[in-house]
Amino acid sequence: MKILSVETSCDETSLAVVEATGGLSLPRFKTEHHLIASQIAIHRPFGGVVPNLAKREHLKNLPFLYNDLRARGFDISKTDLIAATAGPGLEPALWTGINFAQALGGSAAKPVLGVNHLEGHLYSFLLSSPFRTKRELEKMFPAIVLLVSGGHTMLMRLSSLTEWHILGETLDDAAGEAYDKVARLLGLPYPGGPEIEKIAKKGNPHAVEFPRPMLGKPNYSFSFSGLKTAVLYYVKANARTIKKNPADIAASFQAAVIDVLAGKTRKAITEHEARSLVLVGGVAGNRAIREALGTLAAEKKIPFLVPTMEHNTDNAAMMAVAAYIAHLSGKTYPLKADGSLSLS
Ligand code: KG4
Ligand code: ZN
Repeated sequence: MKILSVETSCDETSLAVVEATGGLSLPRFKTEHHLIASQIAIHRPFGGVVPNLAKREHLKNLPFLYNDLRARGFDISKTDLIAATAGPGLEPALWTGINFAQALGGSAAKPVLGVNHLEGHLYSFLLSSPFRTKRELEKMFPAIVLLVSGGHTMLMRLSSLTEWHILGETLDDAAGEAYDKVARLLGLPYPGGPEIEKIAKKGNPHAVEFPRPMLGKPNYSFSFSGLKTAVLYYVKANARTIKKNPADIAASFQAAVIDVLAGKTRKAITEHEARSLVLVGGVAGNRAIREALGTLAAEKKIPFLVPTMEHNTDNAAMMAVAAYIAHLSGKTYPLKADGSLSLS
């Protein structure tokens, strides 16, 4: 089936046209078109995403991207399904995509369904699926999924493609949010994740021993707010030296994040006898984190599945994957913006 998906949950406006085949037993995806209009430059002067500015930009970008799709040969009459992200995200931004999808569906008489942004991230690794047979796919379960984005940090156990259990989540800030806040403390621009990663390469990860929150606790909860506060106190107390070398702080902060993410994930793999490890979400674009979790999977002798770079941060292609699986399993979401929509 051919799916047109619309993603406007935060600061990326994205449309994708994806051909999905194979059903739930071996889903396969061919991306025919994938357009992303980033608003980073608009929000950067404010140090974060401004919801009403995001809404205004989505309203401007959506018809522009859609015309671009048509110029590339897209024909809505050949589409089977239209999907729009219903949440979680910024409600004014979500509504723009939902309304746009509904208007398109209404005029072309096509079904429109709501999809969960977190399911988009969760299934994003399937866009570059290495599975050739149903058996190969079945062999990946149970899988441990680490979903790390700007709004979420969670460890999940996947018993099959459609059955999951959340093992633990962050109790306060998400990992990406901590990257963004620490970047701001160091005077780096938004979004902070890629900026911290860049300068951390030149720093010493052992320069400052920041805390590893929750690492010693016998559960799968995370907490990154304390780590951010520890960086804040350090920066305040050492303002002069930091100006000279923020790279050491960035590297030491990143080392703490990696230790916590890898430590909790290791515990989950062991306890659940996982047969694969999946890393998804915007923070999964971080090469140091990919490397650490890749090494962990290799040590445990299980496959490591991670999306290609363009599918980590918010994009519509992953939402088409979520739409296909939701459509087949009958678990769709109402076409109504829900800023705190959770995984059910
Ligand atoms: O998944 P995403 O695009 O949006 C949400 O659903 O939240 O994730 C965005 C988050 C931001 O906090 C951003 O700083 C972080 O992902 N991020 C990174 C990197 N690239 C993006 N964090 C660390 N290292 C990166 N390379
Ligand atoms: Zn996201």
